[in-house]
Amino acid sequence: MMNLSNDRSMYEPAVSVKNVSKRFGDRTAVDDVSFEVKRGEVYGLLGPNGAGKTTLLSILAGVVNPTSGTVRILGTSPLDSKTRGLVGFCPQEPVVYDELSGFENIMFYAGLHGLSGSEAVKKCRELLDKLGLLEHADRRAGKYSGGMKKRLNFAIALIGDPEVLLLDEPTTGMDPGIRRTVWDLIAELRSLGKTVILATHYMEEAEALSDRVAIMDRGRVVAEGEPDRLKRECGLRAVINLELMEPAGGALKLVEPYAYERAVYVDGNSLRVYVEDPDTVAPKLVSRLLNNGYKLLAMRISPPTLEDVFLKLTGRRLVEE
Ligand SMILES: Nc1ncnc2c1ncn2[C@@H]1O[C@H](COP(=O)(O)OP(=O)(O)OP(=O)(O)O)[C@@H](O)[C@H]1O
Ligand SMILES: [Mg+2]
Repeated sequence: MMNLSNDRSMYEPAVSVKNVSKRFGDRTAVDDVSFEVKRGEVYGLLGPNGAGKTTLLSILAGVVNPTSGTVRILGTSPLDSKTRGLVGFCPQEPVVYDELSGFENIMFYAGLHGLSGSEAVKKCRELLDKLGLLEHADRRAGKYSGGMKKRLNFAIALIGDPEVLLLDEPTTGMDPGIRRTVWDLIAELRSLGKTVILATHYMEEAEALSDRVAIMDRGRVVAEGEPDRLKRECGLRAVINLELMEPAGGALKLVEPYAYERAVYVDGNSLRVYVEDPDTVAPKLVSRLLNNGYKLLAMRISPPTLEDVFLKLTGRRLVEE
């Protein structure tokens, strides 16, 4: 492992992105994005389809060049060969050699990182085990499911003991048990002082793992910071979810006066009302609806999530249902 303790670069951010834009023809995939990630931080890029997360990670991984702006990783360019060795990239679409077994795939990359012999075998087996792939190690990777290929890619990203990890949708296509394993692994990497940038459209994933998040939409960062702070800054204290017997659009006007800054969202038969004081407001909302002939199927009061922050800022949901 590199000894950074006497190094001035210790005090620089692990990753810095300054005014980065990427255009594909007349489409702007990333639009003037800036942020810094400290060493040892897990930084979430949260946004819906097409927000620009993959483009941004590909720029950080040095596989796509930005149209403008600058990116530094560990004080140098992502194209610097020394830096490349310290960055582990797990792309959105898994890339594995289908003809090779899982074990042979990771051994190949171990070799590229200068590992050989029994040390390489031990480390590869350890990583496959961590990702729940040891029992499938000798199967051809071409026979793996999408989620398994993804985990194999994660193991490959870790084989060089990187300082910075770029993870693009690391748990998409995985069942909940395996997702937990991957989350635990990301938390373990954080405790080892690794820097992680995690792109996801799962609000729970960003919230569970990230020290800070950048919420992205249509190429731009629309909010950035610690999840709890973002929720507070949006003035979100609590969310009252009301499920009606009929389409909820007509009830909007009745409910609006009770919401914080008139923030109410209609989704089919349900209403999502943002309030400051749910204990006082909830009974009033219910009686107002009932008095106006609406039938209520369910009501739930919950703390706000990053999904609510996204909704408040953009008027849209993170994941279209
Ligand atoms: N190579 C490309 N050529 C043209 N357009 C592209 C290319 N790559 C991405 N785009 C466009 O750039 C925008 C951002 O795409 P990107 O894949 O970065 O988003 P994302 O946040 O990763 O989305 P997803 O959640 O679907 O993975 C989209 O509108 C996409 O169609
Ligand atoms: Mg993507």
